[in-house]
Amino acid sequence: MLIRNKTDIPTSEITSETTYINRRSVIAGLAATGLVGTARTAPSNLAAGTGRKELPGVTPGPFSTDEPPNSYEDITTYNNYYEFGTGKDDPHRNSGDFQPEPWTVRVEGEAEVTGEFDVEGLLSGIGLEERVYRMRCVEAWSMIIPWVGVPLGEVLKRFRPTSRAKYVAFQTVLRPDEMPGQRRRVLRWPYVEGLTIEEATNPLTLLTVGVYGVTLPNQNGAPLRLIAPWKYGFKGIKSIVSIRLQERRPPTSWNIAAPREYGFYANVNPEVDHPRWSQATERRIGSGFSGLFARRIPTQMFNGYGEQVAHLYSGLDLRRNY
Ligand code: MTE
Repeated sequence: MLIRNKTDIPTSEITSETTYINRRSVIAGLAATGLVGTARTAPSNLAAGTGRKELPGVTPGPFSTDEPPNSYEDITTYNNYYEFGTGKDDPHRNSGDFQPEPWTVRVEGEAEVTGEFDVEGLLSGIGLEERVYRMRCVEAWSMIIPWVGVPLGEVLKRFRPTSRAKYVAFQTVLRPDEMPGQRRRVLRWPYVEGLTIEEATNPLTLLTVGVYGVTLPNQNGAPLRLIAPWKYGFKGIKSIVSIRLQERRPPTSWNIAAPREYGFYANVNPEVDHPRWSQATERRIGSGFSGLFARRIPTQMFNGYGEQVAHLYSGLDLRRNY
């Protein structure tokens, strides 16, 4: 695709009209050739007329891929967020009543500093970065997403974790009044996730507040979610209200729901099949090929981020620790 490489343009331009008009005409051109089945583009001004806000002072961060990002529409209409339903379009259809402001996060457990913080307080003084990450879901589809956030390790450092802080446990908000999926027992609520302290402080791990230069929409986990791009998407817990440093390995929602299918580590690993399907390839969402001609691409170990993270798992049998 002839879309400009977003990694080398300033963030202020990313949502500019011209970029999207260019992209639209490129995609339209491809559509005319029959190569694109479902041409979808991002709106020209993502903040206008919505509750979203443009994020100030975002600089390009490290580790971004050169691959062209998915459209804003792909990223915000094809989601997993069971609190709003189990269908891919449920989160965007059913999350309109959710109130991500005001918001506070409890930082608890094995740290010298603990307490309750608003999002600004939690991130203040740490520069927002854009990271264009490859994201690969356990369901064997993938997208390229320009997230905006700060390294989680930078945030955790401020709380001065003690030597007993071996894991970080995260919890999503519990609000059945605003989250219709929580009125059904599809998962045990609230949704929980966990990382080892080494995973949490790896430079790739992003505490994320935005996408495409604007604040996260509800369906993507507003106002604050986790992104660890070498993990299956389900590690990316959304709408976080609690971050707890602890000595014991925390439970995780998908492991509780289906322990034989989902382990604690949840690394992208093309060599270990899910019990019900192969993990060797993935379908790139929005790549324009659908149905019979769906474009499947080989899945890479650690989703291609092995150089940054493989050492975290040396000595672990990744067939057993999936
Ligand atoms: N977080 C919560 N609270 N609830 C969820 O159902 N689904 C996970 C993860 N985080 C989920 C969640 C799964 S399975 C995936 S693939 C990613 O969110 C999807 O993130 P996205 O919709 O922003 O692409």
